[in-house]
Amino acid sequence: MSMSPEDAVRYETRDGVALLTIDFPPVNALGAPMREGMALRLTQAQDDPAVKAIVVVGANDRFVAGADIREFGKPKVGPELQQIQQMLEDSPKPVVCAIDGHALGGGLELALATPFRVAASRAKLGLPEVHLGLLPGAGGTQRLTRLAGPEVALDLILSGRHVSAAKALELGLVDEVTAGPVTDAAIAFARGKAAEGGAFPKLIERTDKTRNIDPAFFETVRQKNAMAWANTVAPTKIVECIEAACTMGPREGLQFEREAFQVCLEAPSRAAQVHLFFAERGAAKVDGLAPDAKPKVIAKVGVIGAGTMGGGIAMSCVNVGLPVVLLEASQEALDGGLAKVRTNYDISVQRGSRTQAQVDKAVGLITPTLDYADLADCDIVIEAVFEDMGIKREIFGKLDKVAKPGAILASNTSALSIDEIARATTRPGDVIGTHFFSPANVMKLCEVVRGDLASDMTIATAMAFAKQIAKVPVLAGNCEGFIGNRILRIYGTEADILLEAGATPSQVDGALKNFGFPMGLYLMRDMSGLDVGYRMRKARIAAGTEDPNSPNYLHRLWDRIVEAGRLGQKSGAGYYKYEGRNASADPQIEAMLTEIAEEKGIVRQSFTEDQIVDRILAAMVNEGAKILEEGIAQRASDIDVTYVFGYGFPKYRGGPMFWAQQRGLDKVLEIILANHAAYGDRWKPAPLLERLVAQGQGWDGTPTA
Ligand code: 3HC
Repeated sequence: MSMSPEDAVRYETRDGVALLTIDFPPVNALGAPMREGMALRLTQAQDDPAVKAIVVVGANDRFVAGADIREFGKPKVGPELQQIQQMLEDSPKPVVCAIDGHALGGGLELALATPFRVAASRAKLGLPEVHLGLLPGAGGTQRLTRLAGPEVALDLILSGRHVSAAKALELGLVDEVTAGPVTDAAIAFARGKAAEGGAFPKLIERTDKTRNIDPAFFETVRQKNAMAWANTVAPTKIVECIEAACTMGPREGLQFEREAFQVCLEAPSRAAQVHLFFAERGAAKVDGLAPDAKPKVIAKVGVIGAGTMGGGIAMSCVNVGLPVVLLEASQEALDGGLAKVRTNYDISVQRGSRTQAQVDKAVGLITPTLDYADLADCDIVIEAVFEDMGIKREIFGKLDKVAKPGAILASNTSALSIDEIARATTRPGDVIGTHFFSPANVMKLCEVVRGDLASDMTIATAMAFAKQIAKVPVLAGNCEGFIGNRILRIYGTEADILLEAGATPSQVDGALKNFGFPMGLYLMRDMSGLDVGYRMRKARIAAGTEDPNSPNYLHRLWDRIVEAGRLGQKSGAGYYKYEGRNASADPQIEAMLTEIAEEKGIVRQSFTEDQIVDRILAAMVNEGAKILEEGIAQRASDIDVTYVFGYGFPKYRGGPMFWAQQRGLDKVLEIILANHAAYGDRWKPAPLLERLVAQGQGWDGTPTA
């Protein structure tokens, strides 16, 4: 977007105060026109003898959302942010930032270079660069540390969290908070400072909070997080910069931070995290919807089923103030579900993440019921009961009779056909899948599953509703497993094959963990319990849909583990043995694996971590390419979002499809082709992948060279 500097920062005077209004849509990021505009308008204000003070404000009730992320990796244009900060810091006239909406990243850093800040009570402030694989590179690590001390700086910058205006006042980040119009308050504040005169404070020169800090303090932080930060650059660099703020002079510290920022900027983890920032926002968009398919307003939600999923979904709704009618089939189940919701909230109060008053308010928004008629005025009803087509169809039949016309009828199915569920109603266009992940009150992903029958309005509303309850929506087509579980099945299969071929559960899990997954596959299976999958398999075998004697049957180990009475962590043994929650490798499992290999005539071999990771990831990517080609996912980046927000794929790797592109699609195809030659058709390369490699293109069709 090209915009003139004069438009990006408007100028007016109000009785001796110059008002600089940053107006650079959509979020007033610090793009080149905005930086040029600031330089221009600051000079104008300094040159105007009638101006006694300067106020900087953002248009449309938002201050500044930080550096323009779209500029990363591109040639620099216009003045640097640091030059603007220097002008602010050296201003002989008092400068006050009037903060409403968000002051984030470079936006807060801009404000910290001015002597004074006034915030609206609803404003949020933060340095979230770490989420982009970066550190605050415009003095944020230096000025915040000098303002609030290294402990506060570490907390805010490593977490990247936003703080309220009240908290910012308590920490000294702002000088005043107002419930009224922030511009008026800032102008009054600026006039007062102009009248007082004198030298205005410069945060960068403060040393009261940074003197005599024991270097061991930083060393402890580094040691405690060494494992978690192993594959990423920014957190370690953040600690170094905050330490530098305590040991170096102002200019030296700023220079140190600049160099560290550059290191982060060039790291692969930065590219991955910036990719995810845009991927997350892209995933919320649906291509090709009718222009009039605007989301309906959702003001009341019904949830059917108060089990773990239903309770978690209800919590997600009431957490954002949406009233919920929670329906169960029996009083006992309803009471049990509500008790679990209360226990979850009690834990958050104990942890300090919520106050008792917030929890009471949230729980008060839940209306328990046994009567379908109470769902009559809900704008959306989400069914979250056991995965059984018969039961789901019965519920949707009942819902059809009571739900108001136009209400969205959603099913939290993870596997069943949404079209078949929709056909149980007289309004299939209003039916959609909303696949939440457990625990639903915590996990961010919501796969919105569009059946063939869903109307555009239903799709648009379900996507907007997921955002409304603070989830990350991804649109998926209707196929077995949708996007996430379809790839998970492939991932699990490949890992199981690796076990039979010679790896052990702890080797596979160790390789995945070192790659960055929070938990390996077998630990996860043990945690979820092994008996449910076992029983489902036995039912399929009894029904003749699965053959345990087929060479392709990969569950011999799992079956033997369960038949030995090892049901996972809950029974003290599964793929691992347990002391409490501590898992350790069990020679009995290796013995079972040797036995199975002998039965199948497999010669066990050893695998390196890289071989394990390459094989599992290449299989995931190949399936991802098929999903993309079939139109089950709208874009490759949607698959990345699914895996990062629903399956613990490390953010700093950007998701499986991004990983593949960073690695080189041609290299990934080589792995797939080698496995195809060795293991046959399950490794058949996705035609899309072959085509893109042949044409030298990335997932979105742009040239890769
Ligand atoms: N640069 C460029 N574009 C940005 C942007 C930024 N900093 N922040 C948001 N956008 C774009 C989004 O991509 C989106 O574009 P789209 O409409 O084309 O999809 C649009 O602005 C609206 O964004 P959201 O959908 O996220 O709008 P919300 O109202 O939900 O949220 C927000 C607004 C809280 C400001 C959120 O966008 C956000 O958190 N932005 C990122 C903030 C951030 O990380 N700042 C640090 C940047 S790095 C930095 O400052 C380095 C410095 O230290 C030198």
